[in-house]
Amino acid sequence: MKFTKDFVFGTATSSYQIEGAHQQDGRTPSIWDLFCKTPGKVFEQHNGNIACDHYNRFEEDIQIIKELGVDSYRFSIAWPRIFPREGEYNPEGMAFYINLAERLREEGIKPAVTLYHWDLPLWAHEKGGWTNRESVQWFLDYAKACFTALDHVVDSWITHNEPWCAGFLGYHQGVHAPGHTNLEEALKAVHHILLSHGEAVTMLKSDFSSATPIGITLNLSPVYAMTDSVNDQLAANNADGYSNRWFLDPVFKGEYPADMMNLFAKYVHSYDFIHNGDLAAISVPCDFFGINYYSRALVEFSAATDFMYKGAYSDYEKTGMGWDIALNEFKDLIVRLRREYTDLPIYITENGAAYDDQVEEGKVRDALRTQYVEQHLQAVSELNEQGMNIQGYYLWSLLDNFEWSFGYDKRFGIIYVDFETQERIWKDSAYRYAEIIKNKAILP
Ligand code: NOJ
Repeated sequence: MKFTKDFVFGTATSSYQIEGAHQQDGRTPSIWDLFCKTPGKVFEQHNGNIACDHYNRFEEDIQIIKELGVDSYRFSIAWPRIFPREGEYNPEGMAFYINLAERLREEGIKPAVTLYHWDLPLWAHEKGGWTNRESVQWFLDYAKACFTALDHVVDSWITHNEPWCAGFLGYHQGVHAPGHTNLEEALKAVHHILLSHGEAVTMLKSDFSSATPIGITLNLSPVYAMTDSVNDQLAANNADGYSNRWFLDPVFKGEYPADMMNLFAKYVHSYDFIHNGDLAAISVPCDFFGINYYSRALVEFSAATDFMYKGAYSDYEKTGMGWDIALNEFKDLIVRLRREYTDLPIYITENGAAYDDQVEEGKVRDALRTQYVEQHLQAVSELNEQGMNIQGYYLWSLLDNFEWSFGYDKRFGIIYVDFETQERIWKDSAYRYAEIIKNKAILP
């Protein structure tokens, strides 16, 4: 399986998950710093105070990135480093990212930068966070500062990472910060996140006249029904609406799915948070589409749940997260996106797997992760043979890191991190990824 010479191989991380340095150079807390202190929310109350200490060790990490041979490195900016208080710009925080991006470019690695990977400043949360429509303006002020300081050293911009998680896990299911459980709040949050995406894209293109490609990253999980029964089909449709269409439809079609608006209606006082013109702003054309793909969902009908579906038993092989390894479903997803939604170049902005890694005699023999990555890369290559135009693949993640509510209990890295000593150890998967990148092919 071969890749064209301009196919982008990358690896990805995010600020709160790796940086640590939570009080350094003027950073103030984000919603995750607070959430980590809330009993019962994060595995053993772990937090990102130190994480991989990447903020202080980025030079060492750049050397690893360079040795891997990736073309591009995807990282995110911590908003509370840039605006520690409302309206107060912090040049010291920005200096870190300017330096990081410049150093990457010196090494020939293209920075792909995400503006929002979930670390909302606490000051913004105290004013209602994403449920407050003013959040769109706060985000635009932040985006403007980032574009001003960094656009000349950034190769691509991603406005938001996985609004489904920020919105639904954060404000509806309560398992991510800020831990609320209110569907109406979640729908508002998602709406403001999407609106801030669209307006940031417009700002970069018009106010900055920038040609830097910009897009959004959605996490998509193709949904399958347990049986062909009408009830299970309905369950799958609703799950697809909640997980995928609620994001795809506004971004690509400029509308929310009507069936889901009806289904959600009994939990919502009114939809008047959606103003005239918002959906046109949200669906502004981008330059590429980012997809994070990990797994499929299998569901069945359940009259006892709000949206009439629940997860069904699946006999697929699973990763350490308990997520189904689903390759055909990945291919189906991309084909569906091409058919129903977009011709834009696609980047797989995340794909990878957690496993229970062990260091033995200085080595980490993560054969299952290696296989997972090879199989998904193979699928990408097959999809490209069918003309699906996937232009790049970012492996999640460079380093073991803070896996949100699972803390440090789940390791996604291709580089093992000993969190006691901060030692980095190459796993077998990292050696293999470097080989694939070098050959631009998956050779035996
Ligand atoms: C998606 C998220 O963007 C990332 O932060 C997370 O660590 C991975 N999925 C793995 O769950």
